[in-house]
Amino acid sequence: MATIGFIGAGNIGSQLARLAVAHGYEVVISNSRGPETLTALLAELGPKARAATTTGAAKAGDIVVVTIPLKNYPTVPVEPLAGKIVIDTNNYYPQRDGHIAALDNESTTTSELLQAHLPASKVVKAFNHIYAAQLTTDGRPAGTKNRRALVIAGDDAAAKATVTRLLDEFGFDAVDAGPLKEGWRIQRDTPGYGPQRTAEDLRKDLAAAKRYADRE
Ligand SMILES: NC(=O)c1ccc[n+]([C@@H]2O[C@H](COP(=O)([O-])OP(=O)(O)OC[C@H]3O[C@@H](n4cnc5c(N)ncnc54)[C@H](OP(=O)(O)O)[C@@H]3O)[C@@H](O)[C@H]2O)c1
Repeated sequence: MATIGFIGAGNIGSQLARLAVAHGYEVVISNSRGPETLTALLAELGPKARAATTTGAAKAGDIVVVTIPLKNYPTVPVEPLAGKIVIDTNNYYPQRDGHIAALDNESTTTSELLQAHLPASKVVKAFNHIYAAQLTTDGRPAGTKNRRALVIAGDDAAAKATVTRLLDEFGFDAVDAGPLKEGWRIQRDTPGYGPQRTAEDLRKDLAAAKRYADRE
């Protein structure tokens, strides 16, 4: 797993690209406006990074991170991501994304939407509940007391194992919430969304999460 592709190079995409380069990965980054708009980030990331179109980043990545405003997920290239692990950081904010009925009525979850768009890919939800800046400050070596943990969810066990190893390399424990349909347990406004948590605390947060419909 030498190359990580990025669809989205904003707060989260750029931070994950920094982490990836720092841990020896090649990165191929993309955004909506085109590779020529990414020169400043490329200069910072150095020789292990290059920019491409979204299709180019999708083709180049052994693992590909989708980290864009959720409403734009239908534009993510499908065919070049077939068979690949796709890490989904996206969250639903109606004020930004507009209303998506299936999310408002909780008949699906954000990562299930991306998985339905990418039926031949292995979508793993990850990095959705940590502030971008903390990605490069909160990581600690494995075994550190009170190491921060992050939630993953996904329908493919091998893909989740790969993402768990990536999280560990980047300095975080992983807590498996189960299949993608359980990803709502770490959506916005749930107890685990945002605060720094150990694996033990995060498991409690996941168990305590309530559906929007079940809240006061
Ligand atoms: N910010 C956080 O701390 C945080 C934490 C966890 C999760 N998240 C979630 O992660 C996602 C990304 O958040 P962010 O804060 O990084 O967003 P952001 O700073 O607004 O960056 C979004 C990136 O996505 C690109 N983009 C937009 N539409 C695209 C498309 N159709 N195809 C390819 N690239 C596209 C943008 O490129 P252009 O600039 O060229 O349009 C930009 O590089 C969101 O769903 C967010 O809710 C954010």
